Amino acid sequence: MDYLPFTRPSIDEATIAGVAEVLRSGWITSGPCVNQFEQELSQYFGGRPVRAMSSATGALEIALSVAGVQPGDEVITTPYSWVATANVVLRAGAKPVFVDVDAVTRNIDLERMEAAITPRTRALLPVDMAGLPVDRDRLYDIAKRRGLRVIEDAAQSMGASWNGRPIGSFGDLVAISFHANKNITSAEGGCLVLSDAAETDLCTRLRLQGVVRLPDGGQEVEVAGGKHNLTDLAARIGIGQMKQLEAFTARRRLLARRYFERFDANSGCELPLAEFTNCNWHMFQVLLPLERMRTGRGEFIQAMHQRGIGVGVHYPAMHLFGLYRRLGCKPGDFPQAERIGGSTVTLPLFPAMADTDVDRVCAAVSEVILGARK
Ligand SMILES: Cc1ncc(COP(=O)(O)O)c(C=O)c1O
Repeated sequence: MDYLPFTRPSIDEATIAGVAEVLRSGWITSGPCVNQFEQELSQYFGGRPVRAMSSATGALEIALSVAGVQPGDEVITTPYSWVATANVVLRAGAKPVFVDVDAVTRNIDLERMEAAITPRTRALLPVDMAGLPVDRDRLYDIAKRRGLRVIEDAAQSMGASWNGRPIGSFGDLVAISFHANKNITSAEGGCLVLSDAAETDLCTRLRLQGVVRLPDGGQEVEVAGGKHNLTDLAARIGIGQMKQLEAFTARRRLLARRYFERFDANSGCELPLAEFTNCNWHMFQVLLPLERMRTGRGEFIQAMHQRGIGVGVHYPAMHLFGLYRRLGCKPGDFPQAERIGGSTVTLPLFPAMADTDVDRVCAAVSEVILGARK
């Protein structure tokens, strides 16, 4: 039986041919494809300005600059995410202030988030884990009342929505990833969605060395920008993927539904929130009943691998990494993030999977866990 990875991008032949055309064109870095990709993204995000980036990490770094986050400022975020979320705050010289996640949604607990606001708080940086959106009504109500910027780490949210509106089509600054594992990909890449013309101009400059091209062919530089521009090769992949976004999201939702139908309740695993309207089902993460198993997560992953099934870990609670411990974090600080981060496994979920692949994964999970029962 073929090995089933936990995810795999679906790149169609038209896109592959399109990339070959870009290669032959003689213009392979930022150019017409990036412009087209940005236009298509902007259309999807309800006409808001969009800047394509080489990663969502770059988009988040620029968003922090655009929002005016400075050394000494605090940015409130979740300890349960890919470590990029907090690293970018440190790299801006600011302090990530972690707030524990909700046990059910696995997203930042908004009540605790509001309680963590201090006079030094400059921005809120929530994450939509696995593409399940943070409650945008409550989030923006808090931000408005407290006068704070929001930087949505919507890296995993492409295709997700809130009350019928696509994530990215409203709100403050929204960073989205097109990394290879995301719901649409450009191999590596991302974008920042903005709403203000002056901030969009600043974002454009921060994306590429701060350079402004003058009508007389000269250049001017007022800000020290970085190097975050997307290549046309990557943008051409993204253009091909945009056409499939709706179908990909629908397929992911169907596969997620099947997991709920087929999952063996006796396995003792804790399933994610069964939400099929807003969530784009970027991942299907279950929590292992480790306290009832003789073996650990590593052995579970190994046993699944032996059955030809790839399993990922997204993510260990990041406040327990050495970097964040040295800044004062310790075990016990964020019990839900630690519980979830310590027991989560990501099961295969990607659009090209067959329905029967879900059945095969569910059967293997039961077999491995029941075989490892204490
Ligand atoms: C929640 C979250 N934030 C940020 C990122 C960074 O995205 P990129 O790899 O495009 O820089 C990721 C990517 O995995 C992510 O999942």
